Amino acid sequence: MKMNQFTSVKDVEDISQLVEDALQLKANPYADQHLGKNKTLGLVFLNPSLRTRLSTQKAAINLGMSVMVMNMDKEGWALETEDGVVMNGTTVEHIREAAAVMGQYCDILGLRSFPKLTNRDEDYNEDFFNKFIKYCGVPVVSLESATRHPLQSLADLVTIKETWKGTEKPKVVLAWAPHVKALPQAVPNSFSEWMCKAQEQNMLDFTIVQPEGYELSADFTPGANIMYNLEEALKGADYIYVKNWSSFKEYGKVLTYPDGWMMNNEKLKGTNDAKVMHCLPVRRDLELSSEILDGPNSLVIHEAGNRLWAAQAVLKELLQNLS
Ligand code: CP
Repeated sequence: MKMNQFTSVKDVEDISQLVEDALQLKANPYADQHLGKNKTLGLVFLNPSLRTRLSTQKAAINLGMSVMVMNMDKEGWALETEDGVVMNGTTVEHIREAAAVMGQYCDILGLRSFPKLTNRDEDYNEDFFNKFIKYCGVPVVSLESATRHPLQSLADLVTIKETWKGTEKPKVVLAWAPHVKALPQAVPNSFSEWMCKAQEQNMLDFTIVQPEGYELSADFTPGANIMYNLEEALKGADYIYVKNWSSFKEYGKVLTYPDGWMMNNEKLKGTNDAKVMHCLPVRRDLELSSEILDGPNSLVIHEAGNRLWAAQAVLKELLQNLS
């Protein structure tokens, strides 16, 4: 199966090989500059970004590509996505034309589009993303969609593979953390999807721990060990992936939860001196304590650094598969 888009783990034939590719590129970043010669990557953002924006641009530059960035939310025309409507309101351009036009200028397109968190079916149908893919006519890389963030998850798996020095499989725990806002499920969905695939391949053991009501969609957690007691779940953990998400069941809501879900050094005591990961941006001393972020157990900067190699591995494969 040739990879011709990157929107989920399902687009990847062999995740172990893609992780190896990323680590090889980290060791030798400029070996494939010929692949991107005269090729253009377009990055389309409907939402803010620091890491995804910069790491994907740098990855493309390392491969010899040119990059154009479109901040669609601030600089583009207001887009219509519904078919069959008379456009006599506030929308100015239909996605049918906008995506198709961007496909005329770019060999590969990246797209970031967050969920609205009001209508679960609408978000989980990925209507906007799917229409963009359909009409642009070139390979699309997800820069985070309503339900997934695969470039982040690939970088996370690269980070675990690179840093794990044990002889047994590592125990990886995705741990829910508090937040003041309702956040999407895209990062935890995607992390779970990738970790479940890695668990299937005997690379690691995977647990998710969250308060009652914060269960992710079962579609993203096949084979995961689902728990509700944080202290129990963390016992013997080698990696803890800290992340907030809003409720899937009571869609987009911030539910009440018991005290004690912020990750701190006290909670690391029952672990195997666990390394702590977070996709960033992180709210200090709300999701994750400053003592962890500034201490020896934090992998967050290393993990963000690996976003570059994850993006480069994906772009390299898409460039190789361009017809
Ligand atoms: N982790 C991540 O995707 O960061 P940005 O939102 O800053 O791109």
